[in-house]
Amino acid sequence: MSATKQGSKVRVAYDDYASYRWTIDRLLEAVDLPAGAWLEPCAGAGTIIEAVAARRADVAWAAVEIQPKYEAPLRKLIPSQAHVAIGDFVALAIEPREYPPLFAVSISNPPYSLAEAVIRKSQKLAGVTAMLLRLNFLGSQERADWLRVWAPDIYVLPDRPNFNPTLKKDKEGKDRMSSGDSIEYAWFIWDWRRISFRGSVQVLATTPEEVRGAEKLPRQQAARAAALPPAPTPPAPPAPPPPAPLAPPQPAAPTVPASEDQTRPETPGSKTDATSP
Ligand SMILES: C[S@@+](CC[C@H](N)C(=O)[O-])C[C@H]1O[C@@H](n2cnc3c(N)ncnc32)[C@H](O)[C@@H]1O
Repeated sequence: MSATKQGSKVRVAYDDYASYRWTIDRLLEAVDLPAGAWLEPCAGAGTIIEAVAARRADVAWAAVEIQPKYEAPLRKLIPSQAHVAIGDFVALAIEPREYPPLFAVSISNPPYSLAEAVIRKSQKLAGVTAMLLRLNFLGSQERADWLRVWAPDIYVLPDRPNFNPTLKKDKEGKDRMSSGDSIEYAWFIWDWRRISFRGSVQVLATTPEEVRGAEKLPRQQAARAAALPPAPTPPAPPAPPPPAPLAPPQPAAPTVPASEDQTRPETPGSKTDATSP
């Protein structure tokens, strides 16, 4: 895997940082997401798919991922040929449907640099878009107009997931694992069943240190192995293939309460003419 240096931090190509399952568990405990066809637009090896599948039997998956190395693990989770596409989700040719949407839910931990594009495309394809993002995604001049139009509900993770554990030297020159990113994360949810364009904020349950530590350990071991001896510069990843067509599995409309039928908040680029509450 290639890495790029930005400032003092080394970032992995494609922002390839798998989610921790506990971050998904906290979301699923707190939010009643609709059953049906779900999309993972930047699926990696399928951590989110596995975590959801462990809790819910009422979800049928489709997944997109740009790196061909993840095709095999994704196909183990989603055997149907038509429901896994290897390619760029943002460029994927897939026609949105106005109502009901193609997918009940689009859920991911997208690469940060592509987050807005992934969210905007997800909003056209899915009734609910749920994205794990840095909390400071909210504070941006470029995104202000867009976020004002349809603000997300924010579910803050009180424990910081350390996506990129690194090895550091302490004062005595001994190797120490970094304690964590000093970045707060939250689930951002845009739900077209919501009446108001204004979002809400909730703080999710805390996750015990033993649970977080057990998931972090393999990454720390990998970071240690990569640090000793110094890793040679690996070749750049191959250019991604053009995305294959993607068919949603048995698309199901999200359950819409009778009083809120077909009033989807208007998003930039959307053709709906829903009235503002
Ligand atoms: C932060 S990782 C998260 C992976 C997975 N969603 C999870 O939560 O474990 C981001 C993933 O997005 C993939 N990715 C990056 N750019 C992409 C694109 N344009 N289209 C689809 N996948 C992309 C990366 O290869 C990587 O697997």
